[in-house]
Amino acid sequence: MERRYSPADQILMQLDHALRTVFGRPHLTERADPGADLAEPELTPAQRDHAARLMRINHTGEVCAQALYQGQALTARLPGVRDSMARAAAEENDHLDWCERRVHELGGRLSLLNPLWYAGSFVLGAAAGLAGDRWSLGFVAETERQVERHLDAHLAQVPPTDEKTRAILGTMKADEAAHATKAAEAGGATLPEPVRGAMQLAAKLMTSTVYYV
Ligand SMILES: [Fe+2]
Ligand SMILES: [Fe+2]
Repeated sequence: MERRYSPADQILMQLDHALRTVFGRPHLTERADPGADLAEPELTPAQRDHAARLMRINHTGEVCAQALYQGQALTARLPGVRDSMARAAAEENDHLDWCERRVHELGGRLSLLNPLWYAGSFVLGAAAGLAGDRWSLGFVAETERQVERHLDAHLAQVPPTDEKTRAILGTMKADEAAHATKAAEAGGATLPEPVRGAMQLAAKLMTSTVYYV
C-alpha cells in the first residue's frame, strides 16, 4: 500500500536525504565494496594523488546522481517510474560510499563543492521530472551513458596495479550501463542534441573544478 506524506513530511525527508548524501551515511544496498578484499597497491605519490582526485570527482558525480534521482522522485508522475528508480538510486548510494572510502584510502579529501552540486542537480532532476516521465527517463538514460563513458576515461588513467580503484570503477560502469538500459526500456525518450550537449558541458564544469576543489 502506498503511504501518503504531507508536504512538510516530504520536505523533511528530502532534507534528511540531502544531509545524509553530503555529510553523513547514506542507506546502502546489500552489496560489498568491490575493492574491499584487494591489496593496496604500491603507487608513486603522483599516481596516488591523481587517483584520489579522480575518485573525488566520481564521488561528487554520485552526489549529483543522488540529487537528480531525489529531484525526479519528487516530481515524477508515474508511481512505476518512481519505484523502478528507487533501486538505481540505492545503487548510486553504494557508489557514493565506495568512492568516499577510496578517496580516503588514497589520502585524498572530498570536494568542498558537494552541497552546491547537490542543490544544482536537485533542481535539474525536479525539472526533468516535471517535463514528464518519457523525458525524465530519457534524462536518466543519457546521464548514465555519459557517466559510463566518463568512467572509461578514468579507467584509462588509473594504473593497472591499482586493482582496488579499478574494481570500484568497473562495477560502477556496469551498474550505470544497466541503469541506462533500464531507463530506456521503461520508455525514456532520446534527448535533443542541444540538451545532451548542455549536460556534457555541465559535467565538464563539475569534473574540472572538483579535480582541484
Ligand atoms: Fe553511480
Ligand atoms: Fe547510475
